[in-house]
Amino acid sequence: MTSPNDLAWWQKTIAYEVYPKSFYDTAAQGTGTIAGITAKLDYLQALGVGAVWITPCYKSPMVDNGYDVADYYAIDPSFGTMEQMDELIEKGRERGVRMVMDLVFNHTSEQCAWFKESRKSRNNEYADWYIWRDAKEDGSAPTNWRSIFGGSAWEWCEERGQYYLHTFAKQQPDLNWENPEVRKALFDIANFWANKGVGGFRIDAITYIKKPPVFEDGPADGEDGLYPVHAATANQPGILEYLHEFKAKVRDGRDIFMVGEANGVAATELDQWVGADGVFDLLFEFSHMHVPMGEAEIWCRPVTWELTDLKRALAASQKATAANGWYPAFFENHDQPRSTVNFFQCDGPLAAKAKVLGAVLLTMRGTPFLYQGEELGYGNATWKGIGEFDDVQTHAQYDFAKSEGLSDEAALAACTRFSRDNARTPLQWDASENAGFSAARPWLPVHDDYATCNVAAQEADDGSPLLWYRRLASLRLATPALLAGTWRELMEDSEQVLAFERVLGNERVVTLANFSNEPVAYDSELVAGLSLLAASEGIAAPGRLGPLEAVVWG
Ligand code: NOJ
Repeated sequence: MTSPNDLAWWQKTIAYEVYPKSFYDTAAQGTGTIAGITAKLDYLQALGVGAVWITPCYKSPMVDNGYDVADYYAIDPSFGTMEQMDELIEKGRERGVRMVMDLVFNHTSEQCAWFKESRKSRNNEYADWYIWRDAKEDGSAPTNWRSIFGGSAWEWCEERGQYYLHTFAKQQPDLNWENPEVRKALFDIANFWANKGVGGFRIDAITYIKKPPVFEDGPADGEDGLYPVHAATANQPGILEYLHEFKAKVRDGRDIFMVGEANGVAATELDQWVGADGVFDLLFEFSHMHVPMGEAEIWCRPVTWELTDLKRALAASQKATAANGWYPAFFENHDQPRSTVNFFQCDGPLAAKAKVLGAVLLTMRGTPFLYQGEELGYGNATWKGIGEFDDVQTHAQYDFAKSEGLSDEAALAACTRFSRDNARTPLQWDASENAGFSAARPWLPVHDDYATCNVAAQEADDGSPLLWYRRLASLRLATPALLAGTWRELMEDSEQVLAFERVLGNERVVTLANFSNEPVAYDSELVAGLSLLAASEGIAAPGRLGPLEAVVWG
């Protein structure tokens, strides 16, 4: 039996993802700042947060909002200075809130000094730092791979007379991990940040770093004649050797954690990726996200799903991580539409839906990763035209949807539903102008309902999602079974209720979450001998849940 004492600090805390551009602006510029995160440490602490994953804030041309890094050793001036970053790391540490840096190591920005050099010729010092290939005989791209953002994954470079590979946007050339100098440069960067005292790293797009030995065309899966780069390159044999080297040179001997973003790793391979013999401490895998959204490449085709599909995906991840490693539980991040829209097929108030998801997230086994705004019950934003979106992927997706034969309206509707910008609108702090996010006009609009959906209003409302998240966060941190207990699914076949129990010794906690907007009856024996610890709508009784109500018994 594991007790909380056997767990590492990052296994018994709550993690929170900050998208700094949209968190809090202290510079009256319309975009968030590093000092803005420091200013809101109290807010994060009130949510029980001990680890703050900050999406990339390094120097960047911001084609992909920082996931195109030009200089890993500098803070982008739009976010502030290195001194402000050091201050954030230090002030956070003093309070037991550790910063987690996002390492973007599959690719750099085309503005990175390494790439600027690499593109010049085939024999310069950095010539072999990226993935360069000759054109096919007819001058076309080396393979028919489609980048994750849409369009060919190859870009022609006139200067060098070759194509370079970009798994994401063409401004994000892929690094060549085969080259030991590249690996050394990347591990040096990670050590530079680790030495500053951060609590860990989230490693971006890590399953793409190893390319296949032979580059060849694949069968087209869309009207564009292209084949997903993901299918051609994700999780190639040999990738783990690089990652073991990464672990040995960066992670070993430090009290930090590494969480990999790992699209393409199957549950059966988890033991090689996480845990004592693995390379990471935790792995973000996306099987549950794929249930309502489909696979990323064909995202605009309709998906039909039932609650049991979601439950099966979550249960599989829980079971796999019970045996190996540790689960990072999440329903949102900066790449996903809002969870209140994603995970419900019924009508009903967003606040109630957010509380249902919060109950699941904060009582699951693993470390919950909250994403800014999730605790307020955001829905998706309102978009009037494709021109309103900032996200590079959304624009590419719009073009892809059109190439699939969708009308302008249907393509816009698909982007409105799925765009990553839904997660990136500013955090709404109060009812003042610009929702208290900034004294200047924000880079993306605040929600229409910001006057009521904001931190200040929810702090004053006992039934709000924010106070529900705070209450369950405190409950989690004070309840050994929620930190260290086993996980077992209940009511597996129910299409309305997601339910599970957590057990540690004599302590048993049961979560029941009604994803439907109808009242539901269940076998009250499931909670016999337990007391109601929290009920999101105040309707529940033993054996009965209100519409869109979640309860925790223990
Ligand atoms: C995954 C990140 O989460 C996403 O925002 C980014 O666009 C891609 N990786 C490319 O770095």
